[in-house]
Amino acid sequence: MGVLSGKEVVLGVTGGIAAYKACEIVRELRKESANVRVILTASGAQFITPLSLQTLSKNPVVMDLFNLISESEIGHISLAQRANLVMIAPATANIIGKIRSGIADDMLSTVVMATNAPVLLAPAMNAQMYASAAVRENLSVLRERGFHFVEPDEGELACGTVGPGRLADGGKIMEMARIVLSEKPLAGRKVVVSAGPTAEHLDPVRFLSNRASGKMGFAMARTACRFGASVTLVSGPTSLPDPPFLRTVRVRTAEEMFTAVTRAAEDADAVVMCAAVADFRAKGAAPRKIKKEGFDYRVELAPTVDILESLGKNKGSRALVGFAAETDDLARNAVEKMRRKNLDAIVANDVSRTDIGFESDNNEVRIFFPDGEVRDLPLCTKDGIAVGVWLALDGKLFRR
Ligand code: C5P
Repeated sequence: MGVLSGKEVVLGVTGGIAAYKACEIVRELRKESANVRVILTASGAQFITPLSLQTLSKNPVVMDLFNLISESEIGHISLAQRANLVMIAPATANIIGKIRSGIADDMLSTVVMATNAPVLLAPAMNAQMYASAAVRENLSVLRERGFHFVEPDEGELACGTVGPGRLADGGKIMEMARIVLSEKPLAGRKVVVSAGPTAEHLDPVRFLSNRASGKMGFAMARTACRFGASVTLVSGPTSLPDPPFLRTVRVRTAEEMFTAVTRAAEDADAVVMCAAVADFRAKGAAPRKIKKEGFDYRVELAPTVDILESLGKNKGSRALVGFAAETDDLARNAVEKMRRKNLDAIVANDVSRTDIGFESDNNEVRIFFPDGEVRDLPLCTKDGIAVGVWLALDGKLFRR
């Protein structure tokens, strides 16, 4: 169950061309089982109809502060008090200015003033307006007051200019909503997470790799970020996009992953190696494409560097966590790896099963600790497993 499930979310929609994108945000919020109440400003209603938002949110859309019927059903104070989160997407220069100045002259600005809930603003406006001294100052004051933001994206704007001002991607706004509402057990921690396979080149065209999709590592990185950690994700080749609000370093080979992880690990509190690092590489990859003709079908292999084992030899105060993908003797193999690599925990899953593990969206794992404790996390989504793993690691490793 996600962090938005069962939450009361007030979504303010103000008057910009991006107002139509609010429909998608309402759908995403509903998909995660949030109860959504939309407040549409008068200028927002010039761009999108209340009926669309009402149909998608499955709640009446509130527009008018002084409407006797809607005010008697659910008034502005009750909306403000019930909210777990107030989001405004798109947020125009006008609503940003009003909130900063303490103006409460319509339903949305009044609810923002009356709420104790966190407020998340996703500005969208013309690039010049966004760069104006008034907007810059308003944003910086609101940031100091603890308002949350998702910066607009750069690109071609509806008005024809190019620059920052386009409403941030819906996925990014949703992720910030999850971050804002998550508890913060990892606040102040720096963590490094590796993900995906590595690819070891035989020649410029061919490589040795494995079936890792990167989904588990990406879930571990996203979850650590939601839990308040500063995260570096080192990923081998995957088709997954960079997760927002954390640092992603893309690598291809085990050697490149070793360099990136070791560098990021220098000031980290924890290194979690989810990556399925290739165990072998071609000894002396060919600089040009190997021709079929005359090839003797033999490739000489050499071992890759073991990143965790190397970190384990000089651990300092860092927590080191491995993942073990096993097909046989899960417990024995996992515990042996934990000892050999000098780890603080190892998370093991059975990759002989087709319903979990490689490429799947789900997983089921056992976490082994050096003191003999074992925690079982039952079958659920990789995001759910990541929450369970981080909470187990936090309780066991960081609170010593
Ligand atoms: O020995 P094995 O590959 O099964 O160990 C799994 C753990 O070790 C994983 O956490 C993996 O990321 C890490 N590993 C590594 N460097 C390697 C091979 C594995 O860090 N070359």
